[in-house]
Amino acid sequence: MSAGEGLLAGKVVVVSGVGPGLGRALCVQAAAAGAQVVLAARTESRLREVAEEIGAAGGTTLTVPTDITDDAAVANLVERTLAKFGRVDALINNAFAVPSMKALARTDFQQISDSLELTVLGTLRATQAFGDELAKTHGSVVMINSSVLRHSEPRYGSYKVAKSALLAMSQTLATELGAKGIRVNSVAPGYIWADQLKWYFGEVAKKYGITAEQVYEQTAARSDLKRLPEPDEIARAVVFLASDWASAITGQTLDVNCGEYHR
Ligand SMILES: NC(=O)c1ccc[n+]([C@@H]2O[C@H](COP(=O)([O-])OP(=O)(O)OC[C@H]3O[C@@H](n4cnc5c(N)ncnc54)[C@H](OP(=O)(O)O)[C@@H]3O)[C@@H](O)[C@H]2O)c1
Repeated sequence: MSAGEGLLAGKVVVVSGVGPGLGRALCVQAAAAGAQVVLAARTESRLREVAEEIGAAGGTTLTVPTDITDDAAVANLVERTLAKFGRVDALINNAFAVPSMKALARTDFQQISDSLELTVLGTLRATQAFGDELAKTHGSVVMINSSVLRHSEPRYGSYKVAKSALLAMSQTLATELGAKGIRVNSVAPGYIWADQLKWYFGEVAKKYGITAEQVYEQTAARSDLKRLPEPDEIARAVVFLASDWASAITGQTLDVNCGEYHR
């Protein structure tokens, strides 16, 4: 899609927490939808890699190494974004650190606290920091949540605590910021068919003496579409919520999971 076209044409979109999985896809799809994209995470080399990919396809980016748990780093992100583009239309909060995956009873408090620090407070810090600018553009915030909201399987406790708090926060922010014309929505992916999951299915296959394809089929069988969503499919749902096409949608959560859970 060329500049001037697409759901996000003329918009400036900040993606906080750009990693190799969904984060990359969010940046690529936002750029493909016509946005100028600001890439933020701690690892500068990865930001540059994704920016180069977008640049090669004709898109415009700014990379700002940022730790969203740090006030000064987030203030710098806002400053650099405004210096380069002069406006912000959407903030996509995607940052993620691998959760403990232990039973809650055996998860140490520091781990839970770190998870809340990143998922809840880091996200709130970024959202607060861009609040005034988003109010000027009647902009949009999209929180990346998880289908952990829909189940209570053992070992996902710490992750569920953090993502449930993120959801509660998103709903309150939707109410608080609505009067300023800012929309706040969430996207909840389940499985994401990307490198991390491909590696994991390989490990499961070895453990049970089956093929990775069989692990995929057994897992996908639980969804209506009998397959697992790819990062770009989740990213395009986020692009929609970030765009003006979702102008009357706020305080909502969109599940993108090929029909694994209904609600
Ligand atoms: N992967 C899945 O199967 C799955 C399923 C459901 C939902 N989700 C959700 O989807 C989102 C993306 O998951 P993903 O696995 O695809 O991750 P990803 O986009 O590949 O990476 C997320 C990135 O967040 C960055 N980050 C971590 N701490 C940060 C901090 N303090 N400040 C700034 N950035 C930080 C990390 O980069 P740096 O280390 O460079 O900072 C990391 O690479 C997450 O919100 C996750 O909960 C994922």
